Amino acid sequence: MAPTGRLIVVSNRLPVTVRRQRTGIGLSESSGGLASGLKSYLDRHPGIWVGWPGIAADLLTAGQRQQVAERLSARDCRPVFLSRRLVTDFYLGFANRALWPLAHYFTQYPVYSQSQWQAYQQGNELFSEAALGEAAQDDVIWVHDYHLMLVPEMLRRERPKQRIGFFLHIPFPDFEVFRQLPWRSEILAGLLGADVIGFHTESDRRHFADCLERLLGLTVSKNRVAVSGRWVTLGVYPMSIDWRRFADAGGLPAVRRQIANLRRQLGERRLVLSLDRLDYSKGIPRRLEAYGRFLKSHREWHGKVTLVAVTVPSRQEVGEYESLRRTVAERVGEINGQFSTLGWVPIWYLHRSVPFELLCALYRLAEVALVTPLRDGMNLVAKEYVASQSDGQGVLILSETAGAAVELDRALIVNPFDLDQVAATLATALDMPLAERQERNAAMQAHLAEATVETWAASFLADLDRT
Ligand code: UDP
Ligand code: G6P
Repeated sequence: MAPTGRLIVVSNRLPVTVRRQRTGIGLSESSGGLASGLKSYLDRHPGIWVGWPGIAADLLTAGQRQQVAERLSARDCRPVFLSRRLVTDFYLGFANRALWPLAHYFTQYPVYSQSQWQAYQQGNELFSEAALGEAAQDDVIWVHDYHLMLVPEMLRRERPKQRIGFFLHIPFPDFEVFRQLPWRSEILAGLLGADVIGFHTESDRRHFADCLERLLGLTVSKNRVAVSGRWVTLGVYPMSIDWRRFADAGGLPAVRRQIANLRRQLGERRLVLSLDRLDYSKGIPRRLEAYGRFLKSHREWHGKVTLVAVTVPSRQEVGEYESLRRTVAERVGEINGQFSTLGWVPIWYLHRSVPFELLCALYRLAEVALVTPLRDGMNLVAKEYVASQSDGQGVLILSETAGAAVELDRALIVNPFDLDQVAATLATALDMPLAERQERNAAMQAHLAEATVETWAASFLADLDRT
């Protein structure tokens, strides 16, 4: 049954990001799985999206803020303006220097700062107030991701009867890792304000339930937990993609032009694709090193293969991301310096976001996609790549530590830390007979055609409606 009332989505990132231009303000498409996935759902279903426009409010004049609000309103979005201090301490700070590395098992990276924790609370208050300003009593409020883990409880305090859902787009770490966080109990209590808390995988849910039991002394039974006379449901909903959009993209004239252009540039060479936000969780330097090992041990592929490595800029103000940018550029340079000939460069490196048409052309032409994050909540790139193989040719090499590996089990599954295995698997993929590639893709495509972003949202919202 469809839920009554409107859907109010709340996330830090909106589908568009505001940028200052010489001529005023401009909007560009936001990067990342949350924005792309939710956008494809909300494009077809009415709803209001509350979030941060991606620029510090202090950098805009009052007139520009008004302009931002109007332009976002035309897309059913409502801005939550954050000051420069909150952008630094809440978004870049607590969310991306404490919670993000912790959830991805980078246990040496987190910075725990009392002032950033306070900023996180203040940031969450702002989102909560904006959502309350938008939502009527019978609306559904669906809060997303690690930036806003206190929001469900803040909403619940004001609206005991509201339907409130929360979905976590990143891994929920094991108890032994999560317990590091000085404010671990507050974060758990914040989430328990929701009626339904959703995760990508069973292990995320298990880790969360374990933390509830061991840190808060609660009892989780049949994936439910009683909190102050309410039931909170813990659900598993693997996020997915707009399957049709990728499966059919090859027919678009603009995509065909990009494919023809790329084919011309590549000549007979086989394309291997590496495409992610530039994030340390994605394992890009190790992946490049594995490619280097492949080239060292498989000279027969020299001149016959090109790795197109796309890194989409992300969170550049955080130190670890800046040093990663330098590391990746150096590694690309080393490999190209070592193996290039006058007629062949083994890696084409693009450090920028790519428009949809080029993205789809790369997916279609790539004979192998190397998706080897060290840890990933889901990884929609892997799903988009499989959906794009309408001729069934491409081979997906996928980390066992990506949430997507649970569903895409006919990919070539690798341990991203085992560089020799990744190198050997790349050789296997390039040599794989067509019939086997097609058979593997057909199995995964049958699953993705059923498990779309549409069914993901519908199953979450149906559970929320039942509460
Ligand atoms: N993507 C993007 N801009 C680009 C290239 C890709 O926004 O220039 C999209 C891509 O299509 C995918 C998302 O970014 O939908 C990445 O999602 P994923 O789950 O793989 O990783 P995340 O970046 O969310 O960690
Ligand atoms: C991941 C997170 C999202 C985030 C995206 C892009 O997918 O789960 O919440 O929006 O990365 O990161 P950004 O910091 O640019 O929002």
